[in-house]
Amino acid sequence: MVARSARRIKAGDAVLMGNYTRFPLLLQAGRGATVTDADGKSYLDFTAGIAVSSLGHADGRLVKAIADQAGRLIHVSNLYYNEPQIRLAEWLVAHSFADRVFFCNSGAEANEAAIKLARKFAKETRGADCFEIVTAHGSFHGRTMATITATGQEKYRQGFEPLLPGFRYVPYDDTAALSKAITSQTAAVLLEPIQGEGGVRIPRPGYLAEVRKRCDRSGALLILDEVQTGMGRTGHLFAYEQTGVAPDILTLAKGLGGGVPIGAMLAKASVAQAFTPGSHASTFGGNPLACAAALAVAGRMTATFLSRVRKQGEALMAGLSRLQKKTGLIDEVRGAGLITAIDLSPAAPTAFSIIQRTAEKGLLLNRTSERTLRFVPPLIITKAEIDTMLKILAEALDSP
Ligand SMILES: Cc1ncc(COP(=O)(O)O)c(C=O)c1O
Repeated sequence: MVARSARRIKAGDAVLMGNYTRFPLLLQAGRGATVTDADGKSYLDFTAGIAVSSLGHADGRLVKAIADQAGRLIHVSNLYYNEPQIRLAEWLVAHSFADRVFFCNSGAEANEAAIKLARKFAKETRGADCFEIVTAHGSFHGRTMATITATGQEKYRQGFEPLLPGFRYVPYDDTAALSKAITSQTAAVLLEPIQGEGGVRIPRPGYLAEVRKRCDRSGALLILDEVQTGMGRTGHLFAYEQTGVAPDILTLAKGLGGGVPIGAMLAKASVAQAFTPGSHASTFGGNPLACAAALAVAGRMTATFLSRVRKQGEALMAGLSRLQKKTGLIDEVRGAGLITAIDLSPAAPTAFSIIQRTAEKGLLLNRTSERTLRFVPPLIITKAEIDTMLKILAEALDSP
C-alpha cells in the first residue's frame, strides 16, 4: 500500500510550480515543537517554518487570538482604521527606536517598502541623484525584483536580469570597504545584524556602530533587516539592541505573526514623513487578523521569555560545541539566542544527507548550504528537546 503522504505529494507535484526543493513530507498537524505528517509520524521541528513559528505549533493563546479575531473582523483594507493594527503599531513603537510603522505581508515586502522609503527620503532631502543602496555580500533580503537586487548573492538573481539600477555591494563586516562604497549618492545602507540565510554570519562587535558612524557622516540612512533576527530570535526583542546603535528604518516579518503572514517596516518620524498618502500601499497590510496574531506573539515577549531564549540558546551552543569536540566533524559553531549554525568539516557527510538522516529519525533540520546546518527552533523549545536533537544529530553525523 502506498502511504497517504506519498500519494498526495505526487498529486501536489502535478499541480504545484516546481520552484521549491521540498522534502517529501506532508505535514498536517503540530503541537509545541513537534509536527506530524499525514502517515502519523512525528518530528521534532528545529526549523520552525524557517524561523517563523516562534511560539511553536498550536499555541493556545495564539490560536484563541486568531479565532476570536476571525469571528469578529478579518479584513477591511487600509481605506479604514482597525483596532488591532493601531495596537500593534503602538506596541512596536513603544518597544523600539521607531515612531511610525507600515504593515505588509512578508519580509520581501517590508524590505521593498524600506528601499522605497529610503529613496524617496533621500531624493527629497539630499537631491535627485541620491538613490543608491549599499548592501552586503552574502545577504538575503527577499525574492521580489528590488530585494533580489539588494541580495548580495548571485544565485538568487540569475535568469532575472536586468536587475534594478542603483545598488552596490560590499563584503560584510568590512567597514573600510563600506567607507569606499558610500558616496554622496548613497541613500541608504541595508544590512542584516546577523546574516541568516547567509549561514548565521555574526559580525565582530562594533561593526554596526562603525556602520552607523559612516552613515551619519554621509547622510545615508541605516536600514536593518531584522526579518529573521527580530521578535526575540536572538534572545533580545531586536538584535540591534545589543549593538549600542539604532537604525533609521527596520524591517520585520517571519516571527512577528507566529506563523500568520505579516511584515512591518518601522521608521523614525523624520524619515517616515517621506511617505505621504498614495506613496505606498498594501491591500492586506496590517489587516485585523494578522495584527491580532502578532499582538498575541508580542504579548509573550517578556523579559522572562527572552532570558529563557538566551538560556536555551546557550544550552544549544554548548551541546553543539561538545559534539564538535567529540566528533571532529564540525569546523565551527556560531549563534546568538536561538539562531545557530554549524559548519561541517570536509570529512563529515553533506548537510543534505544529514538532514535526510535526521528526518528518518524524526528530526527536522535545515541547511543554508552544503556545509552549513542552521538551527532555528521555536523559541519555546525545551532543554529536553535540545538534548533529543543533539542525540539524533550525533547519530546522523556518525553513520557512514
Ligand atoms: C533577513 C531576511 N530578509 C528578508 C527575507 C524575505 O522574507 P520573505 O520570505 O517573508 O519574503 C528573509 C527570508 O528568509 C530573510 O531571512
